[in-house]
Amino acid sequence: MNTASAKATERPPRVFLETFGCQMNFLDSEIIRGRMLEKRFEFTETRDEADVICFNTCSVRDHAEERVRGRLRELRIHKERKPETVIAVLGCMAQREGETLLDRFAHVDLVCGTREFSRIGDYVDRIRDGSGPILALGESDQMPPRERVDLRARQHEAYVTIQRGCDRACTFCVVPRTRGPEVESSMDDVEDEVRRLVDDGVVDVTLLGQIVNAYGRKMGGRASLSRLLRRLDRIRGLRRLRFITSFPTLMTNDLMEAMRDCESVVSYTHLPVQSGSNSCLKRMARGYSADAYRRLVERLRKTVPDVELATDIIVGFCGETDEEFQATVDMMREIEFVQAFIFKYSNRPGTAADRVMPDDVPDAVKAERNQIILRVQEEIQQRRHRDMLGSVQEVLVEGPSKRRKEVLSGRTSAHRIVHFPGSEHLTGEIARVRITDCTPLTLSGELTEVA
Ligand code: SAH
Ligand code: F3S
Repeated sequence: MNTASAKATERPPRVFLETFGCQMNFLDSEIIRGRMLEKRFEFTETRDEADVICFNTCSVRDHAEERVRGRLRELRIHKERKPETVIAVLGCMAQREGETLLDRFAHVDLVCGTREFSRIGDYVDRIRDGSGPILALGESDQMPPRERVDLRARQHEAYVTIQRGCDRACTFCVVPRTRGPEVESSMDDVEDEVRRLVDDGVVDVTLLGQIVNAYGRKMGGRASLSRLLRRLDRIRGLRRLRFITSFPTLMTNDLMEAMRDCESVVSYTHLPVQSGSNSCLKRMARGYSADAYRRLVERLRKTVPDVELATDIIVGFCGETDEEFQATVDMMREIEFVQAFIFKYSNRPGTAADRVMPDDVPDAVKAERNQIILRVQEEIQQRRHRDMLGSVQEVLVEGPSKRRKEVLSGRTSAHRIVHFPGSEHLTGEIARVRITDCTPLTLSGELTEVA
């Protein structure tokens, strides 16, 4: 039998794909999955069964990269036993480390950066045909062609990437290196995609971008996030529209007014502050002071009265003193974020901080500050959740909860998790739920009616 006919009768190659990091990575993985299924690959949840093992990676902190390095070390023996297995490293870490990954892990076959992943199926075919290792990092600064996402984790929810990359240079951040300069999709393309998703049953859409409220600046004033929101708000059947992640200095009045005016746009914004200390913010090159952030929150709360803010905080950044850390704690108590993602500073090679600032806060101090701030945030969430007891919340039902099938799980418009007894057919509906109990992380209650 010649090779071509042998191939025709072969079973399709099985792919194992593991994803690390942010929402954009998870969405990229859905795109990869869609493209590979089209090319007749199959997917498996078991690494040992796979012919192709892929890691879609994250570089934001060393910990995420170290997990992937651990996986790659484990696979050395696997590759000796099954040399025909293709091992691929995709995304941010591939972009950042490039050839070094191939040198360091000789059993890796494909290193595929953030602008090339949609062609991964072709690369894998070439490797299976005997091409040898491939390094694909791409040079384009164009938005990759719009990729249809045909697969979704949840039928009623979807993510749409409207902007990739970042032109800022916060001194701690590796994203401008791994994701490259900002590129944007046109408003027409985004609207087409959202309409298609809504026709397909989606009611809840999250627009994604590394610096999402910069959307439009590459189109010379022909587009902006506020105009995009107003356009999408007219789509019948779209009930919730959210955008993440915003940069504080780019919250315009127009955007706040669009949040207030558009019925589908939720009153929730993810606005990373990183630190409550002016000197620390300066070393981070964030371009705003703690007071400027406070004034922004005030303006936002005045324009969109029920708005809830989520944030990101870095503890233990280069040179962070006890006083600087205390300023962050004070700010958190004052603003009362609905949710805070807390990170211990991790030095990233090639960033400005790496070049000029020593990573001098001891690990034990970072860990202690992390604990302190987690406790402060937990207290705030518990208090705010208690204040909600007895109130009726609009909850978009995501489906049965993981642990108990007869209990549904859903989210308020500020993204709080709510559990309540109910039947699965409510999935995708907005239910009114009276809140009867709470923990710092979740609310629970009983159904009053379906909106
Ligand atoms: N604008 C991006 C930011 C990506 S990084 C977004 O879409 O969210 C996400 C968060 O990780 C940042 O807001 C910051 O709080 C944290 N982070 C980034 N670099 C970090 C580092 N070197 N160490 C610790 N945390 C970091
Ligand atoms: Fe990173 Fe700052 Fe951009 S945190 S993604 S460089 S806005």
